[in-house]
Amino acid sequence: MPLQMGEVPYLLEFPSIGNSSEGYISIGEIQKNIPFSIKRVYWTYFTPQNITRGYHAHKALVQIIIAVCGKIVFTTEDKSGNKREFVLEQPNTGLYLPPFTWREIKFSHNAVLLCLASECYSEDDYIRNYNEYIELKKK
Ligand code: TYD
Repeated sequence: MPLQMGEVPYLLEFPSIGNSSEGYISIGEIQKNIPFSIKRVYWTYFTPQNITRGYHAHKALVQIIIAVCGKIVFTTEDKSGNKREFVLEQPNTGLYLPPFTWREIKFSHNAVLLCLASECYSEDDYIRNYNEYIELKKK
């Protein structure tokens, strides 16, 4: 049965194989623990600690975000208006972000954010204005 896509953000745990003396490997695999086909991967790094990024939502894009290094804090608002904070600081933890999730993101200086994305890049898919985001959600 296909994995459920879900309408609200949630944390997922990737399997972690290994031990502290040898190190670990984590795995994301389509339909096992990734509920969409990955069309794009991007990563961000060297983000200054004193700034907040994000300030947008997407119309159709589904993402899973992993802090492969460091600590990343997401403040989200979902389709229904619920606000949550997600702290990513384990490399085997992912954050599932469905469409219409407004996000504001803070990073530790050493953080590397890896994004697995369901679509190729399209600026038309972004909602960058918060008031427009609220209006679009009413439709
Ligand atoms: P953006 O998604 O706005 O990042 P943030 O919300 O963290 O500030 O992306 C920053 C810039 O990079 C923006 O000009 C669009 C560009 N970009 C691409 O060209 N391709 C991509 O796949 C991504 C994610 C961003």
